[in-house]
Amino acid sequence: MAGNRTFTMIKPDAVESGNIGNIIQMITDAGFEIKAMKYTQLTEEQAKEFYAVHAERPFYGELVEYMISGPIVAAILEKENAVEDFRKLIGATDPSEAEEGTIRKKYAESKAKNAVHGSDSDENAKVEGEFHFAAAEVVA
Ligand code: CMP
Repeated sequence: MAGNRTFTMIKPDAVESGNIGNIIQMITDAGFEIKAMKYTQLTEEQAKEFYAVHAERPFYGELVEYMISGPIVAAILEKENAVEDFRKLIGATDPSEAEEGTIRKKYAESKAKNAVHGSDSDENAKVEGEFHFAAAEVVA
């Protein structure tokens, strides 16, 4: 059975370009309820740990540098079928391949600076949400 929560980050490029509000509007318009949210900046240690699964990829260093380059917004979102529906809403990793009307099509600059993160499984949604938020910071 599909879970009902996912984890997202509005990444430094989208914060820098002034699109926090536009992206949150798209997320809530699509029926996601915000369960936790914070404006923060990742440390190098946090970014390395968060993206440890990509440590062997050639873009890992660039990814970590980028993710610590400015503030982000981290959030836990709730909706039926959250992980899959959120990935549809954000569109393909590479914005040039993202469908019209998706967040990445509208706001992402490139495959690296791709505006938003979305968990790729229920398991990772839980791990990623717990990485950023203590239980007491999450609305029931
Ligand atoms: P995200 O979904 O947050 O998870 C992994 C991230 O790695 C991905 O978004 C992109 O920002 C980044 N990424 C994936 N492929 C590449 C690539 N070829 N070059 C640079 N960054 C990448």
